[in-house]
Amino acid sequence: MSGEREVLKFELRWATIVGLAVAIIFSAIVISSVAMAIHPPSHVEAIDPTTLGASGEFTEGNLGTTVGPDGSITVRMIAAQFAFVPRCIPVPQGRPVTMRITSPDVIHGFIVAGTNANTMVVPGYVSQLRTVFEEAGDHRMPCDEFCGLGHSDMWSVVRVLPQSEWKTNANGRASCEIQR
Ligand code: CUA
Repeated sequence: MSGEREVLKFELRWATIVGLAVAIIFSAIVISSVAMAIHPPSHVEAIDPTTLGASGEFTEGNLGTTVGPDGSITVRMIAAQFAFVPRCIPVPQGRPVTMRITSPDVIHGFIVAGTNANTMVVPGYVSQLRTVFEEAGDHRMPCDEFCGLGHSDMWSVVRVLPQSEWKTNANGRASCEIQR
């Protein structure tokens, strides 16, 4: 009889410990998701995702590759269900490129095959990274964060051009149409 009671006590003690552990883990999840919200992994720069196309930096005419007066190269893109805009991004080989990308809808991913360019794209924030593309040629740039039914069709191309083929128009803009 006393043996059975011992077993019961033992079980109750472990049930209490496990119950407490589950409660602590669960509240950590709830607190972090409610109080801390979602944030991009780096470069916290907020933007209103509902007005992207209407005004400001990410209007359609301002997307793509631009060379500034100081020679700096900036690529602006939108990642939306289920395409990147633009579909092809020309960049010069061996020069630093700043990529700025944002989303009007859900979280997307951004990875350029064979390079270190890789970030998440979170609506409400601008994801920015700086990189140098060393290898000329077309690099596929798929969305690498599941974003819905069309996720697997969501990709763009980064076209890395050697200096001899790199051209911009009078406004300092480059596009894949000009290049070929
Ligand atoms: Cu966009 Cu997956």
